[in-house]
Amino acid sequence: MTKTRGELSGYRVLLTGATGGVGRVLAERLGQGGAELVLLGRGAEALEELAVRLGARAIVGDLTDGEFVAGVRDRVLDSWGEAPDVLVNNAGAFELAPFAETELSAFERVLTVNLRAPFQLARAWLPDMLARGSGHIVNIGSVAGRKAFPGNAAYSASKYGLRGLHEVLVEELRGTGVKITWIEPSAVDTPLWDRFDPDRRTDLPARAEMLAPGAVAEAVYFAIAQPEAVCVEEIVIRANPAAGRR
Ligand SMILES: NC(=O)c1ccc[n+]([C@@H]2O[C@H](COP(=O)([O-])OP(=O)(O)OC[C@H]3O[C@@H](n4cnc5c(N)ncnc54)[C@H](OP(=O)(O)O)[C@@H]3O)[C@@H](O)[C@H]2O)c1
Repeated sequence: MTKTRGELSGYRVLLTGATGGVGRVLAERLGQGGAELVLLGRGAEALEELAVRLGARAIVGDLTDGEFVAGVRDRVLDSWGEAPDVLVNNAGAFELAPFAETELSAFERVLTVNLRAPFQLARAWLPDMLARGSGHIVNIGSVAGRKAFPGNAAYSASKYGLRGLHEVLVEELRGTGVKITWIEPSAVDTPLWDRFDPDRRTDLPARAEMLAPGAVAEAVYFAIAQPEAVCVEEIVIRANPAAGRR
């Protein structure tokens, strides 16, 4: 397949967390670019509606269910017969609690969604991608995977861990034809924050100061749409509140 920069026709993209704030905008952006999509999410109704609108396939399930994640491979092969061109590990779980009040169950859930599932999905496809000599794994990280914030024990552990996996893959994949990208946004105004009402707290950024989900979607699109010979290994995106949203 000949891939042209800025044009995703012929690209097959597997995207997790497609029902979320970033995921929905990203799915729409990739769809506009002409990509064929398989979308993963938990909320069946929202996911089916999005998939129908974009002419995509929906796979509904919970990423904390290891058997469900293991079964995704066969369901994607049913549709495409081969590994995706691009896997975007976007789904994410967030917790905000002091370490001393973080329940083990919450810690495990966040690590499972943010670290174990991306490992499992990348591990499911990497042998095929390596054999084919092409493919692309995009991991959505976070500023909290580089800098510590109080209350982020579980989330930071997961995102630092994911960045560790990314950096190992940068080294292992060099020269293989398989690309790896780390997207690292600061706070993004999405439903992830709904439980915490950041506009009423002084310890969290106000929603108006956060990035818009489209900024993250554009960064992912940019990384995917590069020519075959170019790998964007890392994109760090920070809000510029003084300038207002872009
Ligand atoms: N928002 C931010 O400030 C921010 C900043 C930096 C990085 N990020 C990262 O950006 C990515 C997207 O986050 P977002 O802001 O768009 O959050 P969001 O609106 O809360 O969306 C999260 C997505 O992940 C899915 N998800 C969560 N737990 C799941 C599970 N157990 N099984 C399957 N899917 C699950 C959600 O499904 P449901 O809709 O069914 O819950 C949803 O589709 C995440 O990796 C997040 O860590 C976010």
